[in-house]
Amino acid sequence: MAMKRVMVDVLKGQSVFPPPVWMMRQAGRYLPEYREVRQRAGSFLDLCYNPDLAVEVTLQPIRRFGFDASILFSDILVVPHALGRDVRFEEGRGPLMTPIGAGEIAGIDGELFHVHLAPVYETVRRLRNELPAEVTLIGFCGAPWTVATYMIAGHGTPDQAPARLFAFRHPEKLAALLDLLAEFSAAYLIRQIEAGADVVQIFDSWSGVLDEASFEAHCVRPVQKIVGLVRAVYPDVPIIGFPKGAGTRYDVYRAKTGVTGLGLDWTVPLSQAARLQSDGAIQGNLDPLRVVAGGRALQEGVERILGALGGGPLIFNLGHGITPEAPIAHVEAMLQYVRGSEGL
Ligand code: CP3
Repeated sequence: MAMKRVMVDVLKGQSVFPPPVWMMRQAGRYLPEYREVRQRAGSFLDLCYNPDLAVEVTLQPIRRFGFDASILFSDILVVPHALGRDVRFEEGRGPLMTPIGAGEIAGIDGELFHVHLAPVYETVRRLRNELPAEVTLIGFCGAPWTVATYMIAGHGTPDQAPARLFAFRHPEKLAALLDLLAEFSAAYLIRQIEAGADVVQIFDSWSGVLDEASFEAHCVRPVQKIVGLVRAVYPDVPIIGFPKGAGTRYDVYRAKTGVTGLGLDWTVPLSQAARLQSDGAIQGNLDPLRVVAGGRALQEGVERILGALGGGPLIFNLGHGITPEAPIAHVEAMLQYVRGSEGL
C-alpha cells in the first residue's frame, strides 16, 4: 500500500546510494521561516501543541531542501509535561522544570497523558496526509534516562550530575521513574505509529555520562523495554536508537536493546561505524559544526562518511542537531555533496 520510502528500505537492511538524508533539528532556528512561525506561536510549547503551526514548521525544511525524511515537530519534554510536571522554555536558557523529589515519583499521574498529547497525534495524522508519499515520517520520544535527567535537575547541565547523584542515592526511586517513563513513552510511540509515523527514533542524548553498570541499568534496560512494548504491537516498524556519547558501548546498546538502526554521534570513528553497519543500518554522523564552517571542512566531512559507509545501509545525517548558526547555503552544499556524489 505504502509508496517506496527509501529510508525505511535502508532501515530494513538495503544499501542505497546516494543514501537518504535528513538532519536532526531540521525544523529550527537556522531557518527564517521557522523563526517567523515561532514568533507567531507565542511560547515554544504552544508551537508544539498547535497542529496547524507544528505541521507548518515540520514541512518547512522538506519544501526548502527536499529531505528524504521528515521528523515530527515536538520536544522530548512533552512526555513529562503530559505526566503533570511543569515545563517551560526560556529564550537562551533552554528547558526549565520544577525538579522532581524522590518522594513525588510514586504519585505521578498519567490519567490525562493521551488527552494532553492529542494535538501531537493530530499533527502526525495531518503530516502523513500532507507529506509527499515518498518522504518517510519519523516519530520520536526521549529515552527515559535523558528525560529523567531534566526532570531531576530541572534544567540542562553539562554532565547531568544531579540525576547521576540521584541515581546513586535513590536507586529504587530512579528505577521506578525510568520504568514509568518507558511505559508511557512506548504508549506515546505506539500512538504516533497509529497516526502515521513510519519510523520512530529514541533520543538518548545523555547516555554518554554514565558508568558501565549505570549505562546498563538506566540506559539499556529502559530502552529495551520500550522496544519490546512497541514491537509487541508493531513488529515491523523500524526503531532508531540514538545513544549520544555511548562510545565503545554502541554495539552492546544495539545488541541488547534490539533497536533496528543506530544513530551515531560525530565522535564515533568511521572504522567503528563500519563494524556497526555490518549488523544493521546506521545514521549519522557529520559534526554539526562542519555545517557551520562550510567550505573544505564540510566537503571533506561528507566525503569521508560516504567513502567509509556509503557501500552499506546508511542514512546520512548529522551527529547531533543542526545549530542556529548554520548558514542555509551550507545545508544546500551538504545536500549537493551527498546527492551529487558518484559513489565510492
Ligand atoms: O529534530 C527536529 O527537528 C524535531 C524536533 C525536536 C526538537 N527537540 C525541537 C526543539 C526534537 C527531536 C527535539 C529533541 C530534544 N529536545 C532532545 C534530544 C535531542 C538532543 O538535542 O539532544 C533534547 C535533549 C531536548 C530538550 C530541549 N529542547 C533542549 C535542551 C532545548 C534547548 C536547546 C536549544 O536548542 O534551544 C530544547 C528546545 C528546542 N526543541 C528547540 C527546538 C527547535 C529550540 C527552541 C526554540 O525554537 O525556541
